[in-house]
Amino acid sequence: MLILLFLFLVPLFIILVQKLRKNEAFHLPPGPKGLPIIGNLHQFDPSKPQIYFAKLANTYGPIFTLRFGSTPVVVVQSAKTAKEVLHTQDLNFCYRPYMLATQRLSYKGLDLAFAHSLDYFREIKKICVVHLLSSKRVESFAPIRHDEVLRMISKISTLSSASEIINLSELLMNFASSNICRTAFGKRCDDEGSKRSRFHSLLNDAQAMFTAFFFADYFPSIGWLDKLTGQYSRLEKTFKDLDVFYEEIINDHLDPNRPTSQQGDIIDVLLHLRKQRTFTFELTIDHIKALLLNIFVAGTDTSAAMVVWAMTELIKNPTVMKKVQEEIRNSAGNKGYVTVEDLTKLEYLKAVIKETLRFRPAAPVLLVRETLKKCSIEGYDILPKTLVFVNIWTIGRDPEFWIDPDIFKPERFLGSSIDFKGQDFEFLPFGAGRKMCPGMLLGVANFELALANLLYSFEWELPAGMKMEDIDTDTLPGVTMHKKNPLCLVARKYA
Ligand code: HEM
Repeated sequence: MLILLFLFLVPLFIILVQKLRKNEAFHLPPGPKGLPIIGNLHQFDPSKPQIYFAKLANTYGPIFTLRFGSTPVVVVQSAKTAKEVLHTQDLNFCYRPYMLATQRLSYKGLDLAFAHSLDYFREIKKICVVHLLSSKRVESFAPIRHDEVLRMISKISTLSSASEIINLSELLMNFASSNICRTAFGKRCDDEGSKRSRFHSLLNDAQAMFTAFFFADYFPSIGWLDKLTGQYSRLEKTFKDLDVFYEEIINDHLDPNRPTSQQGDIIDVLLHLRKQRTFTFELTIDHIKALLLNIFVAGTDTSAAMVVWAMTELIKNPTVMKKVQEEIRNSAGNKGYVTVEDLTKLEYLKAVIKETLRFRPAAPVLLVRETLKKCSIEGYDILPKTLVFVNIWTIGRDPEFWIDPDIFKPERFLGSSIDFKGQDFEFLPFGAGRKMCPGMLLGVANFELALANLLYSFEWELPAGMKMEDIDTDTLPGVTMHKKNPLCLVARKYA
């Protein structure tokens, strides 16, 4: 085994040294020195990349270089450099790298997030933004959203009358997954007993695979080690389990006896488009499965994570909590809940939403991109096939743009035209440009309605014996930034 490893590492080392010599001819952004072969992988903290990158920016500035194995990496973390990557030179930066797990789980790039060719990406994006996630479609899902929010509120009422502590993190994750299950395939996941936990565990497995380390990604010549470590079989198992799950729900939808009352969900829309054949490619069942992965993974936990962060910040800032509750209660009156129509008048709630997206973005580092060809940013050369990370967490806290950036202060957005639609490069919670989040409207609609109703219906307090300082803001590793410890609060029904 050791001899085999040696035989692979020696040629790898020689190739690397040759590559490094070649790179010296370019004016690359500065960066910390790495080790031979592994580069900076030993220094990188994948559990909190935003913090690791922010610290490096203190030494190297808003654009710097790293090396992951043999792969060059560039990190940008200023509004100016982000604009170059996401807008001015978007065409060169709108590709995702070929990674083992994302390729397998996306049916070799048949989805939107990991599509390979630009032409194919354009077509599949059209399907998403015109047919699945348009404002009209998001509006049509409003009754589901409303019903799921009311179910969550009723559960909290029952728990609070029994004087139980409310685990908001768990309740919000259940809300988000039931909501996305009904939106995507027309049924609550828990209507069938164990299905919800099956959905949850599949989702967790898929997310774990997206952040798992594979030798094949950074050291292609020793990619076979993934088989020895068992990573490869874990990936295959996750792929097969997901495939069976999609197959079952798609077959349910193809059943001619399916009640019409259940129709109109995302799978129905995709199956209808498949019949129409209006695209430059044939929309197969594999395309539909690949798109479902994007919707489940990107659509479920982002909204839940955002509401948890908003409630965390509000409980730490009682004055803001009181102000936003007063606005919501005055506007919604005493009808017992907040409707989608009420939301349009809630300026301060919208400011709280924006401030949470700035202060605790769901994806603090945008999904990694890869350059197509050589280009230049701020006078530095960026080589083809460089991995590019945009750290929006640091950008959202840049003192050049934000007064008191480390304070949660929704007032900063009142009367301000700064928005999250990808035009203001100091505030990028949904990214910008071609690869910007296509689910922004749905994500915000879920976030607003859930948060407004939680704040309308209950007074929120800390459990007995807990102090404000005890509420932590530690995060879990993963693409979506979740609060590490569940947010557990006491809810008192508001009369
Ligand atoms: C508040 C909730 C949400 C937030 C904060 C959020 C944020 C983001 C961010 C930052 C990206 C990466 C953009 C980039 O790489 O430049 C992204 C991508 C994506 N999001 Fe969202 N998202 C949310 C909700 C949703 C929902 C509800 C869906 C779908 C149902 C969705 C689907 C996607 C997809 C498919 C991508 C990949 C786009 C691509 O690579 O072309 N997101 N999202």
